[in-house]
Amino acid sequence: MSTTIPYADRAERLTGSIIDSSTSLLAAQTHDIVRFAMGSPADEAVPLAEFREIAAGQLGYPSFAYGATEGEPQLLDALVDFLSDTPEATTHDRITITAGGMQGLDLSCKIFVDPGDLVIVESPTYTNGSATAASYGAELLEAPIDDDGLIVEALPDLVEQAGRTPKAIYVIPNFQNPSGTTLSAARRELLLELAHRWNAVIIDDDPYGMLRFSGDDLPGFQELSPNDPLLFSVRTFSKIVAPGLRVGWVDTDPAIRQLVINAKQAMDTCTNVPAQQLVAEFIRRGGFSEHLQTIRSTYLERKMAMTESIRHHLGDRVRITDPDGGFFLWLTLQGPDAATSTSALFESALADGVAFIPGPALSPSGRFDDSLRLCFASSTPQRIDEGIRRLTVALDRALTNRALTNGARA
Ligand SMILES: Cc1ncc(COP(=O)(O)O)c(C=O)c1O
Repeated sequence: MSTTIPYADRAERLTGSIIDSSTSLLAAQTHDIVRFAMGSPADEAVPLAEFREIAAGQLGYPSFAYGATEGEPQLLDALVDFLSDTPEATTHDRITITAGGMQGLDLSCKIFVDPGDLVIVESPTYTNGSATAASYGAELLEAPIDDDGLIVEALPDLVEQAGRTPKAIYVIPNFQNPSGTTLSAARRELLLELAHRWNAVIIDDDPYGMLRFSGDDLPGFQELSPNDPLLFSVRTFSKIVAPGLRVGWVDTDPAIRQLVINAKQAMDTCTNVPAQQLVAEFIRRGGFSEHLQTIRSTYLERKMAMTESIRHHLGDRVRITDPDGGFFLWLTLQGPDAATSTSALFESALADGVAFIPGPALSPSGRFDDSLRLCFASSTPQRIDEGIRRLTVALDRALTNRALTNGARA
């Protein structure tokens, strides 16, 4: 019997994530690998002892019943209270707890993106985010970035060439994934101005903003434009507490919040209750600021270690970004190495015991085959040096193989 499976049109747009599939790929490897691929926090940054204590003492039956869609009251209270001392101060009528940042992105696209809508994304970008917009039928407009983040001044021309205005602008303003760059204050202001000119929503995805380890904080979109209904802010505990909890939040105009809750009800009814209670109690105990302080200095040390190691092993064969926070730096091959395909390099580097994300996996149209993303957060300085040494071995081999192939052709 031959059966045609009656897929929705949307099924074609569910392309999967190379970033996420690297988790399964790496889990299946049995040899020693230095893992620069996933954007995971340091193992020791996860407050395991506190979680064990909280779970033993506080998780009872109600923790395992359905919870409220908008989030557990104790987490909403703890979060609003914690944020009140930060530039992201907010109110209960703006916050909805989500299953991590990804669900926040899905909610934003579900609410704002119709098939055929133009959505501006950074190039390179976090392609799980751009893929979410694409899954709702968005047409993606990839806009270039430089050391100050998205080149906002370039957007009017790009939009004119596209022949229509965007419905949404997806931006990662701080220590961007994958480049590590931060959107300058002037560009934040200009982006707000353009969003209002075009009546486009800014999907402000900022998982790393609390992880600044050098330089000065820049004003966030909510600070620059308070109570702006065009701002949809996506946040997560994944990078600052633990990613496996799957707990995040969105901060939206109160007029939108009921729609967010309705949309979430059609997805998963409520977010994992025990996970929310772990986070709520962890924050309520008051050690969260110190925890952030500690992990910031860990990540600064690791970024320095990676930068030094790259300078030592690779020198001017590569150009790297210099993030002031977050998890990632972006490496672009220079000179003769620039002809090495990082997609092709991935497999041989894996065999050599080092994993990274090749550039094309971070662009919806597969650009940046001369670049790659490195996560410095998850490995100790010693392991970082070993990983960069292995990457150098893989790059050397690619160069030698190309020279041999070219020699044989000549
Ligand atoms: C920019 C960006 N947005 C969203 C996410 C997803 O966060 P979560 O794991 O909480 O879903 C990530 C995770 O890597 C990210 O880097």
